[in-house]
Amino acid sequence: MDLNKRLPQNILNLKPYVAGKTIAEVVQEHKPERVSKLASNENRLGCSPQVKEAVLKSLDEIQDYPDPVSRLLREKIAEINNVNKDEVLVAAGSESLLSIVCRVLFKDGEHAITADATFVGFFVQAGVRGIEVVKVPVTDRFEFDVDATIGRINKDTKAIYLANPNNPTGAYLTKVAYQKLINNVPSDIFLIVDEAYFEYARDLENYPHALDHRKDNVIVLRTFSKAYGLAGFRIGYAIATKELIMQLKKAKLTFEPTTPAQAAALAAISDTEFLRKSVELVKREKEKLYSFFESMEIQYVDSAANSVLMVLENDAEAIRITDEMLKQGVILRRVNAFGLPHCIRVTIGTSAEMNHFKESLKLIR
Ligand SMILES: Cc1ncc(COP(=O)(O)O)c(C=O)c1O
Repeated sequence: MDLNKRLPQNILNLKPYVAGKTIAEVVQEHKPERVSKLASNENRLGCSPQVKEAVLKSLDEIQDYPDPVSRLLREKIAEINNVNKDEVLVAAGSESLLSIVCRVLFKDGEHAITADATFVGFFVQAGVRGIEVVKVPVTDRFEFDVDATIGRINKDTKAIYLANPNNPTGAYLTKVAYQKLINNVPSDIFLIVDEAYFEYARDLENYPHALDHRKDNVIVLRTFSKAYGLAGFRIGYAIATKELIMQLKKAKLTFEPTTPAQAAALAAISDTEFLRKSVELVKREKEKLYSFFESMEIQYVDSAANSVLMVLENDAEAIRITDEMLKQGVILRRVNAFGLPHCIRVTIGTSAEMNHFKESLKLIR
């Protein structure tokens, strides 16, 4: 069969996702003395020790289908965020929620607006559904450009996607800028606020919590993959009006997330001490990394997330550094797929991992 003739053009146009190297691949290829995986914005401290026990216990029910409405977890999320449980939808990670949002909100011919340098997962999910994405260039400080975004809204705009803080830049929209955005997005256009890095940013004085400015057209996404350290489980949630959640729920795969994932998230969200330690580690190591970059005269972007963007002279230097660092056992993420081919994203790891990063970079720079 000629797939080029038989498949929709939007699928043929998509570039397959190229994942970063796994630790096992790097060990096999380069045989470094140690490996530091600083490529995927995971929590390098792992996850709450309470997760293991909860997951093992959940295995007693593994022959049964999962709770399709994640009742216990949804209640806990609602309580913590001071919303109604019917305003919460739990699914297999923010990526799944983005897929749901793209399948439910858009009619043919309607487009989304976002930044040109933002989470690649949104570009992919929109692409699978054949949705045009209008990409507004980030400012020269790598920030989401509110005025330019508002300027691109027209009758075919269905949604605006804002990652706040953003990935891969770590930059965030301040309270004033966010207020301007929500004041100027018409009430019949959805605003998808992806707060994957919320836990790292929430105490910053100037960071707007989307849930403090609730409107009928705002959908907030959160994940357990980052500060909670559960990326391998695939679980996240959306908060929106009850009516909208009911519509989004129709497109969720009935039994996602799995029973162990629900149990893991419930244990993780209840362990505030582990969360505090994770956030503090990132804060401390980020400050040290900024000083290091300054001493090396490497340009970087101030970050409210658990990663920092290195801005290199050109694409070739970004490729060279990523490759050379890999040989030293440090896995980094070049962010060409996110729209910034001359940049590298460094996930903040433990002190030991960050020292490995710094020593290796000194060797090759
Ligand atoms: C902004 C943003 N949204 C969503 C995700 C995906 O999260 P999840 O693991 O919940 O699918 C990421 C992961 O890198 C991200 O950076």
